[in-house]
Amino acid sequence: MSRDPVVSVLLDPDRIGDSLVDDVRRGLVAHPRRLPPKWLYDDVGSVLFDRITRLPEYYPFVREHAILAEHAAEIVTASGATTLVELGSGTSEKTRILLDAFTADGQLERFAPVDVSEATLRTAADRIAERYPEVEVAAVVGDFTLHLAHLPRGGRRMVAFLGGTIGNLYQEERRAFLGALADTLEPGDSLLLGTDLVKSADRLIAAYDDSEGVTAEFVLNVLRVLNHELGADFDLDSFAYVPFWDPHMERMDLRVRSEVPQRVSIPGADLVLDLAVGEEIRVEISTKFRVSKIAAELEAAGLSVTRVWTDEDADFALTLATKA
Ligand code: SAH
Ligand code: TRP
Repeated sequence: MSRDPVVSVLLDPDRIGDSLVDDVRRGLVAHPRRLPPKWLYDDVGSVLFDRITRLPEYYPFVREHAILAEHAAEIVTASGATTLVELGSGTSEKTRILLDAFTADGQLERFAPVDVSEATLRTAADRIAERYPEVEVAAVVGDFTLHLAHLPRGGRRMVAFLGGTIGNLYQEERRAFLGALADTLEPGDSLLLGTDLVKSADRLIAAYDDSEGVTAEFVLNVLRVLNHELGADFDLDSFAYVPFWDPHMERMDLRVRSEVPQRVSIPGADLVLDLAVGEEIRVEISTKFRVSKIAAELEAAGLSVTRVWTDEDADFALTLATKA
């Protein structure tokens, strides 16, 4: 008999509005103007992201999948975990490889997926509870930049943070995130971190500018979120999607560009924006790593690297780091 998943909601619907308003007010007057990426994943955005993971150009998904498929048993043994926490879990599709390995040896007691996107999280939690009846599913609707102190405790834990999502944080945010995460872990708990690696600009650009235009639609959707949540009047057709590789920062820089001079009102944030032709708003960065840099950032946070796995082309890395 499978048990129903328990879903805890840490994001208070009123506060979501407040924090969106803060983010919009702060970000849209900064230089360059920017919007924080967690607002990409409303119900429409989550569906579009799921389509991105199936695009032939989007190699990170298949690469990370391959590493997990090859090394899941080792990862499970090395972690010794009885609770698997997953941050930014989305559909938890790749995580099933880990769950299969965990349940093959009967080690896992609890799975705790954490995501801001409530609908996606609930669907994923239901499916997992059904498929792994012996595992308690304790899902958390929460923000991994705010709610790490509220993660389930007890037992030995491994926190999986897959998909290269850590690369969507700026360096300062990554440092704060890793420090806060290390603080909540007990000695022996571990982090399994998925990171995309530096590679040729061509392949990187193709992965973020697919020929079907799904990625463009995903990024432009953030403007629709502002229209919907804050009564803004962004005209999506008057913006172009502009992704580029920043070789100095070693990150993809994903922006939208105003194609005409225009005034946009955002009543919910009490903001009027005058955009010149060609003016850009950065929606997301996607940092690409080198193995040495990942290790240095983890060590600086007090996590020691136990193992690093990459795929055969060294496109993507999975790093297991343990709290001493
Ligand atoms: N782990 C999945 C999904 C990656 S997409 C994979 O590897 O395919 C990033 C996910 O993180 C989305 O589901 C999004 O809703 C979630 N997310 C983004 N910002 C978040 C935040 N601040 N807190 C919690 N979840 C967040
Ligand atoms: N974490 C994913 C990445 O950085 C998120 C992502 C994939 C993404 N494709 C995107 C974010 C396109 C913005 C735009 O690869």
